[in-house]
Amino acid sequence: MSGMMYHMHIMNTDKGNCHKAFRNILVTGGAGFIGSNFIRHVLAKTDFKGRIINFDALTYAGNPRSLDDVAATYGERYVFVHADIRDAEAVRKAFSEYDIDCVIHFAAESHVDRSIVSPDDFVQTNIVGTFNLLQSARQRGDSLLRFHHVSTDEVFGSLGATGFFSETTPYQPHSPYSASKAASDHLVRAFHDTYGLPITITNCSNNYGPYQFPEKLIPLMILNALEGKPLPVYGEGLNIRDWLHVEDHCAAIWTVLTCAEDGSTYCVGGRAEMRNIDVVKRICSIVDRLAPPLESGAARETLITHVADRLGHDQRYAIDCSKLERDLGWRQAHNADTGFEETVRWYLSNMEWVDSVRSGEYRKWIERNYSKRG
Ligand code: NAD
Ligand code: DAU
Repeated sequence: MSGMMYHMHIMNTDKGNCHKAFRNILVTGGAGFIGSNFIRHVLAKTDFKGRIINFDALTYAGNPRSLDDVAATYGERYVFVHADIRDAEAVRKAFSEYDIDCVIHFAAESHVDRSIVSPDDFVQTNIVGTFNLLQSARQRGDSLLRFHHVSTDEVFGSLGATGFFSETTPYQPHSPYSASKAASDHLVRAFHDTYGLPITITNCSNNYGPYQFPEKLIPLMILNALEGKPLPVYGEGLNIRDWLHVEDHCAAIWTVLTCAEDGSTYCVGGRAEMRNIDVVKRICSIVDRLAPPLESGAARETLITHVADRLGHDQRYAIDCSKLERDLGWRQAHNADTGFEETVRWYLSNMEWVDSVRSGEYRKWIERNYSKRG
């Protein structure tokens, strides 16, 4: 299938008013942190009128309860398929059964620490799973309008004290996680260059916001601070990450999905570089302000505990997102000052979701409701 044929489906590529006319969007990993925010964003905040098919294996990181409100509000416009991208036949079946014309691929093993302890799943899901999706997408021929791959800035490796990652930065992944994401990026690009598949890729910095699984830095620190538990900071806490609110990431993905040229890639970042130790201190002071004091009366900062460093810990990530701003007019709506506080408030007012995740109750709920794997 030539890239030319695919281009013919673009309705209008003017900045601000451009979109491909999708009818059935397959979202992989839609029960995870960013995927669930993305589905809510598209249905509630864009002019999309079609149907979303959420294809998710419900690993430990997947929680369909994060989309209870969406399932209740959007009826037949939201479909959940309990299936695994490692299963090529299940992927093929979903593409034909739901007449898929657009894919947004979030599904991945996403936690760096887990990839260090047990890299196998990362290779199977992130590489083989992506390959399965690409094969089925390719078989759709002209009917497939877009395959968007959600990737990470970690594929670029680690920065020193200065400089930024951009779309032209060479790949230099260090962890099994980032190496598996890099491999998937290369496969996605190869399917464009070889078969003309209408792909786009975004490489994003660290996200924060509602529904993030509490193994990642920000939700872990919020919940441990709330409960007066130790706050484990790796090494001296001097590593730097660039923090982006998940809603800004979702808006960026939608913009790229609907407006970007086939084959293009965009970096997405928050212009909010911070040392981990400073992130944790900021979270502590917000929790001190918004939650009841600790029994001991101590400030939550005193819970900070320096622990052994992560193996191969990347020193600094920072994104130059000027291409996305310039080409497609994307702008952030949040900043870390307000975004961190909103996020703490979200966790404080969603303790039912938090408790079901922390106690493992959400797994039992999944077993009751989705005993058969798709
Ligand atoms: P997450 O771990 O919260 O969610 C991953 C989802 O994928 C879960 O719902 C899980 O059940 C599902 N999944 C895992 N393996 C699967 C499989 N084999 N088949 C089907 N579904 C499967 O991840 P996240 O933080 O929401 O990240 C989503 C994507 O964004 C990932 O591709 C990640 O690499 C990328 N990303 C994340 C960040 C971040 O800061 N969280 C930043 C940049 C890029
Ligand atoms: O940059 C994008 C990436 O951001 C995504 O591709 C990954 O999917 C996502 O998990 C995230 O990776 P990080 O490794 O940067 O995120 P994490 O929240 O695990 O850690 C953030 C920083 O905080 C990192 O430098 C390690 C440190 N850290 C983390 C944890 C969980 C701690 O100091 N203590 C902790 O307990």
